[in-house]
Amino acid sequence: MLGNFSYHNPTKLYFGENSLEFLNEELPKYGKTVQLIYGGGSVKKNGIYDAIVEILKKNGKTVVEDGGVMPNPTVEKLREGIRIARNNKTDLLLAVGGGSCCDYAKAVSVSVNCNEDPWDKYYIRFEEPDCEIVPVACVLTMAGTGSEMNAGAVITNHEQKLKIGHVFGTEVMPKFSILNPKFTMSLPVRQMAAGIYDIFNHICEQYFSGDDDNTSDYLAEALMKSVVNSSLVAVKNPEDYEARSNIMWSATWALNTLISRGKDTDWMVHMLGQAVGAYTDATHGMTLAAVSLPYYRHILPYGLKKFVRFAKEVWGVNSEGKTYTEVAEEGLEKMKQWMQTIGVTLSIRELGATEDMIEGIADATIILDGGYKVLNRDEVVDILKQSL
Ligand code: NZQ
Ligand code: ZN
Repeated sequence: MLGNFSYHNPTKLYFGENSLEFLNEELPKYGKTVQLIYGGGSVKKNGIYDAIVEILKKNGKTVVEDGGVMPNPTVEKLREGIRIARNNKTDLLLAVGGGSCCDYAKAVSVSVNCNEDPWDKYYIRFEEPDCEIVPVACVLTMAGTGSEMNAGAVITNHEQKLKIGHVFGTEVMPKFSILNPKFTMSLPVRQMAAGIYDIFNHICEQYFSGDDDNTSDYLAEALMKSVVNSSLVAVKNPEDYEARSNIMWSATWALNTLISRGKDTDWMVHMLGQAVGAYTDATHGMTLAAVSLPYYRHILPYGLKKFVRFAKEVWGVNSEGKTYTEVAEEGLEKMKQWMQTIGVTLSIRELGATEDMIEGIADATIILDGGYKVLNRDEVVDILKQSL
């Protein structure tokens, strides 16, 4: 049964090979000063930066540079972005990149006109913004996080060894996002695979919770099948537009709040992965991949019915003559084979984690209660050890 909910997603999307042209339609709606947010330089190499600057200039905008947003953006970079926005009186924060740039833009947007320290306010006390929010827009160059159509903003604090996400309200979502699958084609294959696993896991996090019959779970299964099918094509031929466009669109729907409506959600793989990320600064999707199988094997007995459904519906496991547990385990085995095929890691050691970090990573793991089993600390430690 679906619980009660409201659903409103205000982000306008432009999708496809010619979608950048729509920047011309959107820009006149905002003030003169555009803070152009980008990462470590990929957009300069692949020409996206030049194309965007040309459109901004044509529309009479003053461009304020805000490059160097690192993967897993830090609180120090966030404070720098706030300073840039204040000094230049930014009217629009335009993020050009993956989830890191888009998340960062949102975190800046709620902090420019706020006097308190954003880390304490939003990431420790989890308060909501009570100041004017600077509008955010996104030109996406990597499919994965869904940040282009959601209100999440994950920030890392290396000093405190914490990586924390705040899911804000709809007012923080990008006003518009431009999704051109061709822009994702310069992504290194390993990074593409990390993004694909991130998408798949976002769906799992919302699927592995509750056992009722609800529409959201059927939507989740369809999305998972699309991601698996397209990923197998994309790893063989990263230039395949059909596969890359399906992956990009699935990423948006995987985490734009639709499939979580009316049901509980888990998110423990992300809590474990984020804690690993706080210690290793590893690629987000890879941290999820490395902890997933030990976690899912651990909770399988508590959510057996759903793991059987997952095995049959997503992985096509034939259940004839097998126990429920055998079917469920076969599903996870097929998932493991797929993960190996697309090239994501199954070990946090490969990401830089070591035995002596386990206790600290366990301390940094936020324990949530929406999944099939509320973990205790010993279980967290055990899962992390198995993920090594
Ligand atoms: O920095 P540049 O040079 O641009 O290179 C980036 C970066 O190194 C590169 N890249 C992106 N597009 C490219 C490209 N390289 C070549 N060609 C392109 N077209 O890819 C690298 C990773 O980029 P990043 O933005 O860090 O990746 P992703 O999209 O996975 O974002 C990760 C961040 O998002 C957070 C993660 O925790 C992490 O901090 N998440 C945000 C969520 C949300 N808003 O809802 C949910 C997710 O679960 C996730 O936690
Ligand atoms: Zn994720």
